[in-house]
Amino acid sequence: MSIAETIERTMQSEQFAIKMGEGRVVVSDKKMINCRSDLNQLVPFKYPWAWEKYKNACANTWMPEEISMLKDVELWKSPNGITPDERVIIERSLGFFATADSLVGNNVVLAIYRHITNPECRQYLLRQAFEESLHTHSYQYIIQSLGIDEGYIFNMYREIPSVHAKAAYALPLTQALANPYFTTGTPEADQILLRDLIAFYMVFEGLFFYVGFAQLLSMGRRNKMVGTAEQIQYILRDESMHVNFGVDMINQIRIENPHLWTKKFEEEIIKIICDGVELECAYARDTMPRGILGMNAEVFEDYVKFIANRRFMQIGIEPQYPQKANPFPWMSEIIDLKKEKNFFETRVTEYQVGGTLSWDE
Ligand SMILES: [Fe+2]
Ligand SMILES: [Fe+2]
Repeated sequence: MSIAETIERTMQSEQFAIKMGEGRVVVSDKKMINCRSDLNQLVPFKYPWAWEKYKNACANTWMPEEISMLKDVELWKSPNGITPDERVIIERSLGFFATADSLVGNNVVLAIYRHITNPECRQYLLRQAFEESLHTHSYQYIIQSLGIDEGYIFNMYREIPSVHAKAAYALPLTQALANPYFTTGTPEADQILLRDLIAFYMVFEGLFFYVGFAQLLSMGRRNKMVGTAEQIQYILRDESMHVNFGVDMINQIRIENPHLWTKKFEEEIIKIICDGVELECAYARDTMPRGILGMNAEVFEDYVKFIANRRFMQIGIEPQYPQKANPFPWMSEIIDLKKEKNFFETRVTEYQVGGTLSWDE
């Protein structure tokens, strides 16, 4: 099909057609994917959790440059302020995050948004896109304030293997969706969409940020790089909500399309998440060749697996790693995993003990 034909077909599709005298939108018309009702009307709501999350996210508005970097700059420039090992951690984190948030933003805008056919979810996705741009803004502000070579940081995902591996993992898992010719509507295509949503929300945002966050926040707790750590706290709060929104979206698509969640599909998802765990553990080893800040790579591996088990449970899959306590209870105080509530939390827990997922409209 030519580009002109694709545009023509898209403009004539249900999504774009405004039909005079058409019946009013009712809740039962609304669907997460492949919806045929008018997408320009926000109400009536079918997914109140999406609207609530949009409003909560708006209530969390912050700007990077409101946070002072003076103490960080002083410490960074003083000869004995930061150890070489700490410097590696800071630079690697900035290297990964500075490009990762752009990658997530691009994925939201260019891939996911097009295929989620629900106005209240799209409202949240628009907000998430803005937050991702704020995060990139934040890293740029930190890099610029510290006077670190920008070329070195922004090219790290093409030059440092452990950073590259995480970005390289994500790209194939969004290519289908970003392809202008990709459309949902067949079981195969809908599975690709669901798989890519899981890879992005559960692994890229839900796992790949956590080693770097824990490392930088632990410096803040020791009164080092406090401006950077404060920005990370705000970013973590946003990311935590992105993950929760992803969980609700994934579970809702599953409820509306139970045929997609086959045994083979679940096996594929388990492998994708476990591959992500390996990469994040490799990243921890690369950034912490020696113990530092009272932590070491082994403890981080336990932490990554602890988070991964939680991600499995959130989408109704049995934990795949031995269940251990969170090795960083202080991280819980900052993130407070218990507050990471999402709409499906109870239902998914019920599913774990043998119940079935159900949805009451
Ligand atoms: Fe982000
Ligand atoms: Fe995010």
